[in-house]
Amino acid sequence: MALNALDRHLALIGFMGAGKTTLVGPVAERLGRAGSDLDEGATETIREHGMAHFRARELQRTLFSLEGRVPNVFALGGGAITSDEVRSELARSAFTVLLEVDADTAWKRVRRSDRPLAQDETEFRKLYEERRPLYRAAADAVASDVDGVILAAGGVHHELGALERLGELVPGNGPIALVTDSTVMGIHGAAAQTALGDRLVSTHELPRGEDAKQLHVIERLWSELTLDRAGTIVAIGGGALTDAAGLAAALYLRGVPWVSVPTTLVGQVDAGIGGKTAIDIPQGKNLVGAFHWAARVVIDEALLETLPERERRQGEAERIKTELLAGRPLDVRAAAAYKTALCLRDPYDRGPRQWLNLGHTFAHALEAAADFDLPHGEAVALGLLAALRLSGRDPAPVVAALDPQPVRVDPERAWAALQRDKKRTGSDINLVLLGDDGPFVEARSPDEVRAALDTLIS
Ligand SMILES: NC(=O)c1ccc[n+]([C@@H]2O[C@H](COP(=O)([O-])OP(=O)(O)OC[C@H]3O[C@@H](n4cnc5c(N)ncnc54)[C@H](O)[C@@H]3O)[C@@H](O)[C@H]2O)c1
Ligand SMILES: [Zn+2]
Repeated sequence: MALNALDRHLALIGFMGAGKTTLVGPVAERLGRAGSDLDEGATETIREHGMAHFRARELQRTLFSLEGRVPNVFALGGGAITSDEVRSELARSAFTVLLEVDADTAWKRVRRSDRPLAQDETEFRKLYEERRPLYRAAADAVASDVDGVILAAGGVHHELGALERLGELVPGNGPIALVTDSTVMGIHGAAAQTALGDRLVSTHELPRGEDAKQLHVIERLWSELTLDRAGTIVAIGGGALTDAAGLAAALYLRGVPWVSVPTTLVGQVDAGIGGKTAIDIPQGKNLVGAFHWAARVVIDEALLETLPERERRQGEAERIKTELLAGRPLDVRAAAAYKTALCLRDPYDRGPRQWLNLGHTFAHALEAAADFDLPHGEAVALGLLAALRLSGRDPAPVVAALDPQPVRVDPERAWAALQRDKKRTGSDINLVLLGDDGPFVEARSPDEVRAALDTLIS
């Protein structure tokens, strides 16, 4: 079973009326891939040449498409899956998502169409029951909307109460080491241990917060681990914990799979997703790390109930940042899907993933000038104000949602820190800005950037 659509085709399967044709375009666009509907023209072909000819042509077209080397998004015809060859090609080259639809809804959607297989309700329902087990067996995941397909494609599972069935959500059947911190252990540890059952072989507590992201901490974790390469590290905690445990997994035995279970809002909309792991060194935060995509990310919003208000505000800043990038309101699931799509598009952060740094050049400068005594979310809120102003946009939505207040730091120190930022073209400074068609990266003059920075400082 494929775990995600990184470097693989994304294939949408399902019965007539499930929405494959409708979703293939939007999904492909979000992933920056080409998308094609392999069922296009089916009705006409069946009319003109009959079912047998259509099936032969469908088989040929589907196999040819799946053999293409560049990962695409395909909507398969409802019957393509009846072929053994198609099923084994899907297993080899694609991540397959079943678009689920119940028989009543499917019938309502197609009854008035001219589809040859949707002319008689009894026949239609019989075919639905026949096909259902085939779809189930071929699917790596099940979804019903664009965000659902994208989350599935990234290996992200969003479900209220998911912690209780964490055991089923950890891929494979090898041993599991649980890594968490003392706060999260106290709140969710027992439930997690019960859910992981017999596969759990050890539990490890790292220090809370940023203190987890230290080499000596993961070195101690390595010394405690007893996993072999069939094992999985399950990391349950905030962004600091998942960053540290993810890096531990990336390097242990040259890499073991890991599952990320973010328990903060920052984690659920940002840090827990996308495969970036890191620790801090005295020279700077996140300077040593690895790209190591989690075998699964489990987002259970019920875990956020115990999150202190101060921590929730940090996540709100990243969620509002994501809303600005997407240009529409986003709940936790939709914000997670937005980040997932960008990371699938650009797993190694060479292009559009950099949009996620909206406001962050300013935020990092203010944090450094405050000796990191300024919460990241507050710095991001201020940075968003500056990014909006430089984009010629109204900062009112950020003021209304986050109410950022200017900080008292040394403006010269903040400016020096901002200039040390590597993202530069000559003397100009590259920034993520917002345009009418979405985010883009543009170089701005030092004077303009300095003026924008100064408005954030009291
Ligand atoms: N890898 C990435 O792509 C990425 C992206 C953004 C941020 N990050 C990193 O994430 C870190 C910040 O993460 P964070 O904001 O989640 O903070 P955090 O991980 O420092 O956690 C904050 C505190 O919340 C507590 N906590 C966690 N879950 C809780 C819960 N459900 N109930 C009560 N308390 C809980 C923790 O014990 C900790 O004390 C930074 O180190 C940052 O560099 C990484
Ligand atoms: Zn951030």
